[in-house]
Amino acid sequence: MRIIDLHPGYDQIIQHIAEMLVDSFNEHSPDAWPTMESALEEVGESFGEDRISRVAVDDSGTVMGWAGAIKTYDGNVWELHPLVVSANARGHSIGRTLVEDIENQVFERGGLTLWVGCDDEDGLTSVGGLDLYPNPLEHLSKIRNLAAHPFEFYQKLGFVIVGIMPDANGPGKPDIYLAKRISGREGRERERLRNRRNKRNKRKKLKSYLAGDFQLNCQSRTMAEPAN
Ligand SMILES: CC(C)(COP(=O)(O)OP(=O)(O)OC[C@H]1O[C@@H](n2cnc3c(N)ncnc32)[C@H](O)[C@@H]1OP(=O)(O)O)[C@@H](O)C(=O)NCCC(=O)NCCS
Repeated sequence: MRIIDLHPGYDQIIQHIAEMLVDSFNEHSPDAWPTMESALEEVGESFGEDRISRVAVDDSGTVMGWAGAIKTYDGNVWELHPLVVSANARGHSIGRTLVEDIENQVFERGGLTLWVGCDDEDGLTSVGGLDLYPNPLEHLSKIRNLAAHPFEFYQKLGFVIVGIMPDANGPGKPDIYLAKRISGREGRERERLRNRRNKRNKRKKLKSYLAGDFQLNCQSRTMAEPAN
């Protein structure tokens, strides 16, 4: 698989992307791109200034996924929009690879933060279908994924939840905001090593705790045993 810049001349690829957008958002966000026309318009907008538009294609040129980003805050912050992986290619790290590619693109342009808005229009999370006022952040701090909502996909990629817009898509249909500090390939590698080290240390601590606990139990059992 290769990830390349999407160009306005790639008619066939653009058509595939538009079909993918309509199909993929139809179930959970039916108002996002209800028609091919609206989807083609979205792809067209991705060629604008201050935009990034990247497409993942396999060796035969079939579209596997598409990711874009929009420059905001003078380029300090970029919005990841949209992100979609072809339905039959999901679960094979294509989404992850596309987001990491966008991170690299943003890093090269001097961006510091990548953020994404993740709608919940049909109660896939515990913050959907509710009146979030007067304490939206309290609800958000206890968010649970009820049915494979993609906010967890972003968390796996190092994004953290930074906010929520109540009723963004109508009553009880919020938009969940996640963001990530951009550190490029090297930063991500450092992060990966740090996580691995932390996991190893936790395992070591648990092992030595369990070993200590076991010894303690043996000792207390010996002490408690009546002398013959
Ligand atoms: C969300 C989406 C982009 C994920 O793409 P993908 O290629 O299937 O994801 P990956 O295989 O790269 O997954 C990376 C990790 O996230 C996890 N993950 C993927 N989708 C997830 C979901 N919906 N909920 C929880 N975890 C998820 C994977 O299990 C994997 O975990 P691992 O690293 O522990 O193995 C894809 O499902 C999609 O296009 N959905 C429809 C459109 C959409 O929802 N876009 C996002 C709008 S905010």
